[in-house]
Amino acid sequence: MSMYSHPVRSLSAQPFEVPLAPVTTTLLTGASSGIGLEMARLLAARGHRLVLVSRGADRLHAVAESLQQAHGCEVFPLAIDLSEPGASQRLFDETCRLRLDIDMLVNNAGFGMVEEHVAIDPERLQRMLQLNIVAVAELCHRFGAQMKHRGSGRILNIASAAAYQPTPYFGAYGASKAFVLNFSEALAKEMEDFGVSVSCLSPGPTATAFFDEVDPRRIAGGHHFGVASRADPGAVARAGIELMLSGGMSRVVGLGNQVLVFANRFAPRAMVAALSERLLRPLDPERKPA
Ligand SMILES: NC(=O)c1ccc[n+]([C@@H]2O[C@H](COP(=O)([O-])OP(=O)(O)OC[C@H]3O[C@@H](n4cnc5c(N)ncnc54)[C@H](OP(=O)(O)O)[C@@H]3O)[C@@H](O)[C@H]2O)c1
Repeated sequence: MSMYSHPVRSLSAQPFEVPLAPVTTTLLTGASSGIGLEMARLLAARGHRLVLVSRGADRLHAVAESLQQAHGCEVFPLAIDLSEPGASQRLFDETCRLRLDIDMLVNNAGFGMVEEHVAIDPERLQRMLQLNIVAVAELCHRFGAQMKHRGSGRILNIASAAAYQPTPYFGAYGASKAFVLNFSEALAKEMEDFGVSVSCLSPGPTATAFFDEVDPRRIAGGHHFGVASRADPGAVARAGIELMLSGGMSRVVGLGNQVLVFANRFAPRAMVAALSERLLRPLDPERKPA
């Protein structure tokens, strides 16, 4: 049995004998929930052929079916865990096996942990870094090479407003997104003369399942993640798709986040780190009120 799920559009005996219409094929990771799901909806409405990736096969198939029914587009759901070493290569191989030329790549899958760094489960830390950093770099490498060879393509990587400063108790996550930001901007310059645009979107807190795994008592009250308003994932997704289609290099979502990111440039880094520490220190749920 194949490790991958089957495309929703059934691939009949000789599906590619008739040349495919010039439809844009977009590969989107983390497509079953939150910002990725909203981007999948927007791209399906534009008539893209979609290759959707996430771990949970049932949810991914349900998304694929609903998009296909609503928009009549082809959708290939591939259930792959991108936090496993070698997963990016397997995903690339699977698109080759399906003879799908990827015109646009959206690296959206990612997760974070609000926790003291030394208290994080090391296996979970490794998976986060593999997903947030290694898979992004590898997928840009594989599909970017194809795009460069073809002389066209668009890549969108999802970073975070957390990429712009040290983020105590969110440190490895913030640093992984700093990698995505700096890597994307560097790659944008490398690829610009070859017809390939690379864009990076940095959302601030957004109303998705992202915070579901955090004990709500740890970010209650005055904690930054408890008080900061959360953006609508549909609006964040729209900002990302617009950025990618315009070929823009980088964008922070939301005026408040843009102001913070701008102000950070002028403050001493030690001061920014100290302020972040105060904003992000998780509350101790076991501690009795004084
Ligand atoms: N929400 C925020 O506040 C916020 C702010 C800034 C940046 N971001 C970034 O935005 C991106 C999307 O996050 P979101 O807020 O939309 O979160 P979300 O609602 O939790 O969605 C995450 C998506 O990624 C998939 N995914 C998770 N682990 C995966 C893995 N190992 N392999 C493949 N797919 C995986 C999930 O599906 P499965 O669980 O089925 O795999 C899901 O489809 C992330 O990169 C995140 O860091 C989010």
